[in-house]
Amino acid sequence: MRKPIIAGNWKMHQTPAQAKALAQEIRAGLNQTVLSEREVILCPPFVDLTVVEEAVRGSGIGLGAQNFYPKEEGAFTGEISAPMLKELGVTYVIIGHSERRQHFREDDDFVNQKVLSALKNGLKPILCVGERLDEMEANLTEKRIETQLTGGLKDVSPEGLSSMVVAYEPVWAIGTGKNATPRQARDVHRFIRGWIAAKFGEGPADRLRIQYGGSVKAENAASLLTQPDIDGALVGGASLSADSFLAIVKY
Ligand code: PGA
Repeated sequence: MRKPIIAGNWKMHQTPAQAKALAQEIRAGLNQTVLSEREVILCPPFVDLTVVEEAVRGSGIGLGAQNFYPKEEGAFTGEISAPMLKELGVTYVIIGHSERRQHFREDDDFVNQKVLSALKNGLKPILCVGERLDEMEANLTEKRIETQLTGGLKDVSPEGLSSMVVAYEPVWAIGTGKNATPRQARDVHRFIRGWIAAKFGEGPADRLRIQYGGSVKAENAASLLTQPDIDGALVGGASLSADSFLAIVKY
């Protein structure tokens, strides 16, 4: 049985004071019963990690980072390493988000360096894959995802894969209010699991959690997250309000 994992990607929102209040509100809305059935992760901006960690400590809510640089230390002005995140209590890290691919030109090779660095340093990667609108319209969804998986998971062992999560996020659905239909999402999730099975074997594929992301809201969470092969959600906009995030967690 795969435990659904719901992660809130706050993106570049929330000052530390706002982040603390939001994390406290989310914590207050979750009890142990919910958290025994759902894994809940908050991914605030770097500067909020400490206050959010304090706000959720001991609750079972996990902490994720939105990014990091795949070297342990060195002359990389402005960057943050995996060991730094670990020390703050971070367990997950989002890698290969389409906004980083698009605005910061991150390619599959760099994504792969991050996956390997995260695994080496004991962080669990949430590897994001997904096609753009033009690719979807040209029927290139599977091809695009296959390329991203091949590149992103290069040199990853089955043991490494076992601490990973994959997030399917069609780029055309992110922040647009246009989500994939449950059927569209289900088909792509099935494709991803099949690809993983062919590369890593049935067992690892069966255990891998694959989240859906892209305009997940309280109103569509249940229809998406009850599909076979969809094991949770990576939530952007709707994770910035405790009410809507909690409603998604409790879909
Ligand atoms: P959205 O973002 O829920 O605002 O569409 C999802 C994401 O980018 O992870």
